[in-house]
Amino acid sequence: MSGRIPQHFIDDLVSRADIVELIGSRVPLKKAGREYRACCPFHDEKTPSFWVSPAKQFYHCFGCGAHGTALGFLMNYDRLPFPEAVEELAQRLGVEVPREAQGPGAPPRGASDDLYALLGEVTAFYRNELVRSEKARAYVAKRGLDAGSLERFAIGYAPASWNEVLKHYGHSEDARRRLSEAGLIIERERPADEPRRPGEGYYDRFRDRLMFPIRDARGRVLAFGGRILDQGEPKYLNSPETSLFHKGRELYGLYEVRQSRATIKRLLIVEGYMDVVRLHQAGIPYAVATLGTATTPEHLKRAFRVASEVIFCFDGDRAGRAAAWRALNNALPEAQAGREMRFLFLPEGEDPDSLVGREGAAAFESRYAQALPLSEYLVQHLLEDVEVTHADGKARFVSQARPLLERLPDGPYRELLLDRLAAAIGVSAERFLKIVGPVASAPADGAAPERRPLQRTARSAGRGSMVRQAVQNLLHFPSTATRIPAEQRAALAFIDAPGVDVLKALLDDLCERPATNAGQVLERWRDREIGERLSRLASAEMITPDAKAAGNELATAVQKLLELNAGARLDALLDKAREAGLSDEEKRELTTLMAARPRSG
Ligand code: UTP
Ligand code: MN
Repeated sequence: MSGRIPQHFIDDLVSRADIVELIGSRVPLKKAGREYRACCPFHDEKTPSFWVSPAKQFYHCFGCGAHGTALGFLMNYDRLPFPEAVEELAQRLGVEVPREAQGPGAPPRGASDDLYALLGEVTAFYRNELVRSEKARAYVAKRGLDAGSLERFAIGYAPASWNEVLKHYGHSEDARRRLSEAGLIIERERPADEPRRPGEGYYDRFRDRLMFPIRDARGRVLAFGGRILDQGEPKYLNSPETSLFHKGRELYGLYEVRQSRATIKRLLIVEGYMDVVRLHQAGIPYAVATLGTATTPEHLKRAFRVASEVIFCFDGDRAGRAAAWRALNNALPEAQAGREMRFLFLPEGEDPDSLVGREGAAAFESRYAQALPLSEYLVQHLLEDVEVTHADGKARFVSQARPLLERLPDGPYRELLLDRLAAAIGVSAERFLKIVGPVASAPADGAAPERRPLQRTARSAGRGSMVRQAVQNLLHFPSTATRIPAEQRAALAFIDAPGVDVLKALLDDLCERPATNAGQVLERWRDREIGERLSRLASAEMITPDAKAAGNELATAVQKLLELNAGARLDALLDKAREAGLSDEEKRELTTLMAARPRSG
């Protein structure tokens, strides 16, 4: 394997890329003002809502929410893994991609690279075992999986042995440690005083199971789900949480969805591995599954990066209904304008695998017409166990609706739901708001909620918070970071308000390493939580016209933030100094606060 691509090279490459030329070579772009537009290549549409901004070096679709940098576009449109997207971009610019040396003395290859490589090898091993095992092939045939599906999902078989993987891949103590870190072998329990002799004390985790590799967005295997062939417990065994694999984050089949050349308008979220494979095979190449857990907000963030519509599909039985309600609760923070979520319940005793096998893709898809929109399902569910014909019932209804409302960010979804909830108990939306009283609202950028009276969005819309605006200005005009003096940047660390951590991280980075456009900034934070929050902000319209104005706004915003915070904090520290004395840390903070205080007179 070749070495890592140095970060400074990627940074430089992105600063020189021309996103308009790059996307223009694949999608016909039309100039519209300062930007370019087209029909979105990531979803079906007749009127163009896909915009490319040369100033930001960023693209964004207002229809499906797709967005990203030049590298992101290559990854999504050409479906390239990250390193290959870098290669492609470099080639366009006529430069060679340097690789960090790996000889002795060179920085070691990341431990996670080793694990990915190992998991890839074991995937190939399992696939080969499937070919060799008559019993496993018979099972696959019985389940109706065709050769194309086995190939596309890289399905394999873990033989019925306690040490097959161990024998092939565990030759040294070091190798066994890595197998264990990858979740492939388990350490045997032994009395504390019994020393482990090298080569002993481990066994294979997966035995006599059909193996479904779970891959990340770049197609790297992170983990496995294994289905027992015969009777046995558990029916499905998943890899444990490892440094690479976090169940609550991955969606089984998402990589395969992106690989399919079909235009993805929606995702169908189902419960099982087998369901996903059989749905794809039947011609529904947009099915994914959670991995034996409830759908998490993180799952949905991933899902909505691929499509603007999500249909949750559950069995119609009691367990399925319980799972659906859990999914709804977790989905609320992700309910935002431009995103559609619906709930589909299948007849009792059926799952997508059995249904699509019997009735085919077209009949299965015609069931979507019966799927309940999120707001509808929510209201119906609340009405199930509350009688709202009398005042008591109405009060209970409101108290049950309230925590749900609190999980929703401001926006059209909330508006719609308010109207629906009010109608359900026969009052006006205004009256309903009075009854609910103050409700915390989850900010769309995922920061901690802040309790305040619930308002209709028209009033709370506008330019967003000061911090948000400051971060947006910085993204659009990264050079303005130097307007903020070092001591002010340091003082931001003491402010505990939503988004200030992002603002500070960005300012610090940009003062140290200047950047020329938003795309370059975003690439520095790729695959990190801040990066996701920033991408969302980068899509927003550039309100401030030029760098000078943006710099002024930024400076004012930081000054205001420090002032707002300083007054209260200063008082608290001075009180404490009088009563109990200050720690060294607090003394430093006090000094910083005094220094950042607005200079009057
Ligand atoms: P089901 O028990 O509904 O099985 O589990 P299924 O998908 O219909 O599988 P087949 O058709 O019998 O092969 C649904 C999902 O729940 C998780 C798995 O992700 C499974 O695909 N699960 C189930 C587990 O993680 N462990 C289990 O023991 C059972
Ligand atoms: Mn099934």
